[in-house]
Amino acid sequence: MSKIIAIFNQAGGVSKTTLTMNLGYHLHLLNHKMLLVDMDPQASLTTFMGKEAHEVTQIIGDAILGENDELAIHHDLHGMDLVASNITLSAVELQLASVMAREVRLKQALEPIGSIYDFVLIDCPPSLGVLSILSLTAATHVLIPIQTHFKAFKGTELLLSTIKQVKKHVNPKLAIAGVVPTLYSNASQDKMILEALQQQLSPLARVYTAIPRATAFADAAMNRQPLAIYSPKHPAIPILETIAKGMEGL
Ligand SMILES: Nc1ncnc2c1ncn2[C@@H]1O[C@H](COP(=O)(O)OP(=O)(O)OP(=O)(O)O)[C@@H](O)[C@H]1O
Ligand SMILES: [Mg+2]
Repeated sequence: MSKIIAIFNQAGGVSKTTLTMNLGYHLHLLNHKMLLVDMDPQASLTTFMGKEAHEVTQIIGDAILGENDELAIHHDLHGMDLVASNITLSAVELQLASVMAREVRLKQALEPIGSIYDFVLIDCPPSLGVLSILSLTAATHVLIPIQTHFKAFKGTELLLSTIKQVKKHVNPKLAIAGVVPTLYSNASQDKMILEALQQQLSPLARVYTAIPRATAFADAAMNRQPLAIYSPKHPAIPILETIAKGMEGL
């Protein structure tokens, strides 16, 4: 069965999508069959992977609503497969309000491909709304990117309590795959926050080496490429490799 990892933090702009794409690529380089699922109506992952969101006609929402039994999969984008999103996913969120057993809808949609992929990575939207809950319900693991910035702290408590709620009510086996400090700069505030995050969170999960803030990540995304293709010798690459190996060991 696949390991299904939701990349989740309700805070916006903490590098969820960038981590999803790059981690996916490094797991692919380790010979794993990869599916990435875009659960964000903003469709950044779909865009980063080289698809024009407005040209995408079938999205993850179709499978969630049960309108399509088969997942619409785009094959072999940098060696990975993708289920795309576009802005209409936000309407799906509203429609879900009235469907039966909505929390398990993504889990059910992914069941048919459970034995095909080694890993499914779900890029969550920056919210605690139903699309994130569906993602956490479908997942076997949750990987948490956290920006090394002071406002990360307030958010962490809420984030952990959401995971706790999902475990209690719908997905008791959900495990924390790790915490990835992101957008780290050498400023003294970042150092302080990083230390505090390590202290607070390492009893709960492995806290990985921080991924630095580096324009190459944004440039690679603009170029629709993983960092390892855009800039193969970038110093952040060994960090991504370590995270990928950590996911193998789950
Ligand atoms: N390590 C990094 N260094 C510099 N820029 C980065 C880094 N990681 C991501 N970025 C850039 O920061 C922006 C936000 O990143 P990304 O879209 O991955 O975050 P997100 O958490 O998915 O955001 P959202 O909450 O909107 O979904 C993007 O423009 C991205 O290219
Ligand atoms: Mg995103």
